[in-house]
Amino acid sequence: MLKTHLTAEDLYEKLKNIKVGGTVCHYSLKKCEELTPIINEINELKEEKNAVILAHSYISPEIIYGVSDFVGDSYKLSRNAMTTKASTIVFTAVRFMGETAKILNPEKEVLIPAPLDGCTLADSINASQVRDLRKQYPDYTFVCYINTTAEVKAECDVCVTSANVYKIVENIANDKIYFLPDKFMGQNLKNAMERRGIKKDIHFYSGTCYVHETYNIEDILKIRLEYPKAKIVSHPECNAAVVDNSDFVGSTEQMLGFMRETETKEFLMLTECGLSSRLQSEFPDKKLVGSCTLCKYMKSNTLQDILRVLKNPLPKDRVVFHEDIRLRALKSIEAMFRYAQPQ
Ligand code: 13P
Ligand code: SF4
Repeated sequence: MLKTHLTAEDLYEKLKNIKVGGTVCHYSLKKCEELTPIINEINELKEEKNAVILAHSYISPEIIYGVSDFVGDSYKLSRNAMTTKASTIVFTAVRFMGETAKILNPEKEVLIPAPLDGCTLADSINASQVRDLRKQYPDYTFVCYINTTAEVKAECDVCVTSANVYKIVENIANDKIYFLPDKFMGQNLKNAMERRGIKKDIHFYSGTCYVHETYNIEDILKIRLEYPKAKIVSHPECNAAVVDNSDFVGSTEQMLGFMRETETKEFLMLTECGLSSRLQSEFPDKKLVGSCTLCKYMKSNTLQDILRVLKNPLPKDRVVFHEDIRLRALKSIEAMFRYAQPQ
């Protein structure tokens, strides 16, 4: 739990080991002295307005360690959004994550501070394209990744996240699956089902994440030569050659869990730099090898915009839906929670 009043020394303790992924490339005590007045103003406003701040692990460290109440992957954050008692949720991530919080909490105010709230996966497909695909594949169960708009979720049967996609598809009774929008996750899903001996006819869409598609097998081979003891950890949005040659594959929260629990000290982490920052801050005895890529959408969240939406939200900062869309999207999210339970 955050202290309401944070000192520059408290903040520096959390940020001093971070070398990547912030709005600054490293944090000095002087930088922390500049950041703490705005952090404390946000934390006071949160109490006054009964608000909580949810932060994805890719967000800048000064937000995670300065003002967030919950931090995690998209599955964990959607569960946090479902259980919080606060009347306002400030979602520091990308728009589709804030939309999921609003779908689950129609009575709460959900605010999105990011000026760049896109995501290359969520932007790759729209509702009318899904309706056309459903005509082409009438007997298929449509499974959508959480990185989709509410309108797309409303056209699908089950929503999944990187934390539960394999388990959920395994549990769906229909052996005909259409997965969207990520082609790499679709291929990884197909491969995982084949490896588990589960017969499913899986088709998938052609979207990609511009961050994860930059990683390739050459990155892994180079690191294996230079650092033979390093473990390679990747996200299922990476291509199949990367995933098949990794030591661990999972959601951002599962990747952190693996790195926390394994004895290994060196890791190549094939995901967005925010996760590298969390490792550097929270497990200073572990070392990162290789480099990482930034997501411009996630990193567009700033303390200044959080303060602004808490003080004076504009119509564009508020998540608002047509009730019909919300209810149809809710069905696919509820199906996710049902299938994700132990069967
Ligand atoms: P996680 O749910 O694993 O955090 O992934 C979200 C995401 O946007 C990855 O690019
Ligand atoms: Fe979207 Fe990729 Fe950014 Fe995740 S990292 S929010 S999938 S663009």
